[in-house]
Amino acid sequence: MCSSSLSVAKESFFLLAPLELLRSEDVKNITSIEELEKVKIDEQFIRYCIGEYKPAIITDNLFSFFRFTEKQAYLIIIDKRIDSTSELQRYNFYGLLDTYGKGKIVISSSTLTSEQIKKSINLTNVLINQGQTFILELFQLHTDYDESQDWWMHDVIYEIIVASYQDSNNDGIGDIQGLRQRLDYIQSLGVNTIWLTPIYTSPWKDYGYDISNFCDIDSRFGTLDDFRILIDDVHSRQMRIIIDFVPNHTSNEHPWFQAALHNDPKYIDYYIWHKGKNNGKELPTNWLGASGQRMWTFSSERNMYYLHQFLDCQPDLNFRNENVLDEIEKIFRFWLDLGIDGFRVDAVRHLIENDQYHDEPLSKDAKDMDPNIMYVAYDHTESADQSGSYELVQRWRKFLDKYAYENNRNYIVLITEAYTVDIKKVMRYFGNNREERGSDIPINFLITYYLDKDENEKHGLELDKVLSDWQSNLPEYAWSNWCLGSHDSHRITSRLPSKELIDGFYMLLLLQSGTALIYYGDEIGMCDRPFTLANSDEIVDITAFNYGEKYFDKMIRDRQRTPMQWTSQEANAGFTSSTVKPFLPLSDTWHELNVEQQQNALRSHLKLFQQLVKLRQQAPFYGGYQKKVIATKELYAFIRWLDTNIYLIVININKKGHDPIINDFTKLLKYQNKELFGEVIARSCNILDDSLIGKEGNQINLNNLILQSSEAIVLKLLTCPSNISFCQQ
Ligand code: GLC
Ligand code: CA
Repeated sequence: MCSSSLSVAKESFFLLAPLELLRSEDVKNITSIEELEKVKIDEQFIRYCIGEYKPAIITDNLFSFFRFTEKQAYLIIIDKRIDSTSELQRYNFYGLLDTYGKGKIVISSSTLTSEQIKKSINLTNVLINQGQTFILELFQLHTDYDESQDWWMHDVIYEIIVASYQDSNNDGIGDIQGLRQRLDYIQSLGVNTIWLTPIYTSPWKDYGYDISNFCDIDSRFGTLDDFRILIDDVHSRQMRIIIDFVPNHTSNEHPWFQAALHNDPKYIDYYIWHKGKNNGKELPTNWLGASGQRMWTFSSERNMYYLHQFLDCQPDLNFRNENVLDEIEKIFRFWLDLGIDGFRVDAVRHLIENDQYHDEPLSKDAKDMDPNIMYVAYDHTESADQSGSYELVQRWRKFLDKYAYENNRNYIVLITEAYTVDIKKVMRYFGNNREERGSDIPINFLITYYLDKDENEKHGLELDKVLSDWQSNLPEYAWSNWCLGSHDSHRITSRLPSKELIDGFYMLLLLQSGTALIYYGDEIGMCDRPFTLANSDEIVDITAFNYGEKYFDKMIRDRQRTPMQWTSQEANAGFTSSTVKPFLPLSDTWHELNVEQQQNALRSHLKLFQQLVKLRQQAPFYGGYQKKVIATKELYAFIRWLDTNIYLIVININKKGHDPIINDFTKLLKYQNKELFGEVIARSCNILDDSLIGKEGNQINLNNLILQSSEAIVLKLLTCPSNISFCQQ
């Protein structure tokens, strides 16, 4: 390899023009730079031979490579497909060359429009059409931020159950107008993206995850016009809006199911039907669903069983039927046309079932779990995570790419939900490889699973295992994500060994590399509200009734879905008026635990949350490196750094009452000089001003960092990384 000055490098690329010539027959066989060199047209380019060469993605259809020096890098892309009917392809070049994360087109074949040329391109998502050739000048991920493409990677995504957020018309149910009134608050969190759980027309047997009309808003929440205004409001604040999308099933009240029940030929195969074993006397399989029922229900209308992975009022759609696939794409398009920025696709692991209909085995971990109601008692080898489900996610990613491309839209994000502790299965939702991409954000529930563990297992080593598992399994091209809780798991504050640890967990959520997802109310540390079977009229989550006394407490999801706690003095914490009963009772913690109180306090969970969201904007968090420093039963610490900026985050995992932990971080970070100092940037609420660590701005000697139980801290190191061998990548 030879190298030369960079200005020459740029010139040499210009000599490549006209690039269309490279789309000649010759190019078809190029698989290496040597062969490229043989192509006559390219002689001048090779002659200049600037910088290093590194192959990028090379397939039958694509030839691409990097040319780079220490300070500058280019990516040259040549699509070799000559068949003009070839489809738009999406490639991911991220991670192939150092930390370069995006690029601007500096030269292109004329088939690119000027709009496409203007946009900066994120390397995770390079869309290439048949025969296109272009050269990207590359930038580090943290520089040259491009809202239009990157927003989902750096945002904090705030999940909201509209019904539980703010009521505006005093019927006790939160609604779209109410949510609009709270946008100032959401924006004040620093949160840029909201994700709404289903607000489609629905009988609401499962909080709207049972949809009877995919293209309208349920009247409980307002109208389509209200929703249009909400989208405008959100966008005018430079924020984004994502909606839940539930393709796996519909409500049994959906006209498609009603038509299917009555043998309407068009809809006869929209759902999954089976005659049953032994002349219909037995269920087709032993499959147990995720809502505590067998997956098959008999329909006397059709004299057959239909499949439902969730409640019997949520029949599963048949994705082997092309018409169903078309319908789903129509629905995507409907919401995209309204301006939606992305989708959280529900229950993707349940999309397709093996149509050989074999029984499923009990899980080895079933232990004393009741196999008649507990989903986890089985290994769902036939009904979950089938390859067809992964293919569907990839198909939808392609569909969204195409839509964005054709409509000149910003990046449309695809988030998927798949509850499984098998990390390999979760990772597969990212796609097969760099070219065949699936979900952008297969939600990472590992921290929520960690919180499910027995009390004595919730320690630093287990936590480390969870965090490292994710990082080491993450495909190199994939973007990370973190979440602490959701509408399906009990509130994090109610599951932590000590409530005060919430601040340390915010640090894990917000300061590790990746998109962060936060569930409404967790920013103030809202807790679960207990429900009992005896007070059944309070219960909205009817699924819980399937679990009986023994599992009711564990399974009831109303606990974590109670109305948002806004104020101390107003009736119903400001959620709805005093004259009405909220659709779900509030947690009685609301008098002391609410937004107003935390906004007025000098320090609070809310204020720390806001501070950490701001800190995320700093380059080391935004696009820098990350490394674990130490993990013990009692402690977890990691650093984030870029160039000369290093941050150290230390969390004492112990619950109250343990001895303080003293560590020498000078040694742990392999610092070559004697003393290393860190400035306090953020601290958990339980670190008081007059404690050893004290306030923001204090300088702490890291020879001797003392943290009390459940304390957590963010420090900025006051030295240059060249002296810290730990920071060498
Ligand atoms: C997902 C949702 C859950 C719902 C289920 C059925 O798991 O998160 O709340 O009950 O799908 O749609
Ligand atoms: Ca299904």
